[in-house]
Amino acid sequence: MTVTEKLAKWYEKNGRDLPWRVKGGAHGDPYQVWISEIMLQQTTVKTVVPYFDRFLKRFPTVRDLAAAPVDDVLLLWQGLGYYTRARKLHECARILVEKYDGRFPSDREKLRKLPGIGPYTSAAIAAFGFNLPEAVVDGNVIRVLTRLKGWKEPVTSIMNQINSFADELTKTSACPADHASAMMDLGSGVCTPKSPLCAFCPLNKDCIAYAEGVTEKIPNITKLKREIKEGFVFRIENEKGEILLRKRTEKGLLSGLTELPWNTDKSFPFKTDWHITKKTVRHVFTHFDLTLTIVNATVTDLPEGSDGFFVPPERFDDYPFSTLMQKVIKKALK
Ligand code: ADE
Repeated sequence: MTVTEKLAKWYEKNGRDLPWRVKGGAHGDPYQVWISEIMLQQTTVKTVVPYFDRFLKRFPTVRDLAAAPVDDVLLLWQGLGYYTRARKLHECARILVEKYDGRFPSDREKLRKLPGIGPYTSAAIAAFGFNLPEAVVDGNVIRVLTRLKGWKEPVTSIMNQINSFADELTKTSACPADHASAMMDLGSGVCTPKSPLCAFCPLNKDCIAYAEGVTEKIPNITKLKREIKEGFVFRIENEKGEILLRKRTEKGLLSGLTELPWNTDKSFPFKTDWHITKKTVRHVFTHFDLTLTIVNATVTDLPEGSDGFFVPPERFDDYPFSTLMQKVIKKALK
């Protein structure tokens, strides 16, 4: 049996049932594939499942998504992180409705021209949505492939080799959609980063890393060092007990979300009687590790030049907050 055949057999028995997955061929609705793949970028399957279900209930079709205000999309996205994904999703939905009559093209090149759809997502939509022989190569898949081949070079320097190997396997598979799912499931459940379950792996006899006893050294990836940042977050209350919020700009980190004002230079935004509390909130972003100290103040009016607005805490549910801000609110308002 070939590697692809062994993998297919393993998947039949061990493949996960996931809400965005259809086994045995093309998913009838590429829209669902697209939503799931965008959500699954940088977010675990376990976290995504309830978000995916809520999203599909609220926006069952690409037309429903395109017709909604972007703030509704952000509201459903809150807590998932990487909010640019949600804005691009919405932008893309509008283009699909305007240019493609609300239907996904199956052609990878056409897919790639759409906002938020890069090489990875276009391959995933083609493979899962249309059962086309496109290799879907994410971090889990890279681990499986490099271990099979025993490739010890830094992953970034051998991406061409990795992609060619992925293509080669995909082309020989009987069902490209299942093959792509199988690679992912093997990577996430068996061929794990630490202590992989090689004894249960259908490909252990084909695996060079296993034969050489170097599975944990492969893939060769250098972990990025996170910068450490500290700052203040301001709980500014007026006499009615309302809290000052502001909306972030449409670009950059946490774009378009609502927040309590915060900074990373520990300056005060205006002159008043500030009370630095002992409460802190920590949050880990991709590129930095942030600790904010909660600083309180009570004011009579909106501070001069402020771009903020006062909101009573019982209306906070109407605004999209990041996970960082949800942590801040929980601590600062109790
Ligand atoms: N990670 C990214 N895409 C995935 C998918 N379709 N199934 C499971 N995990 C994934």
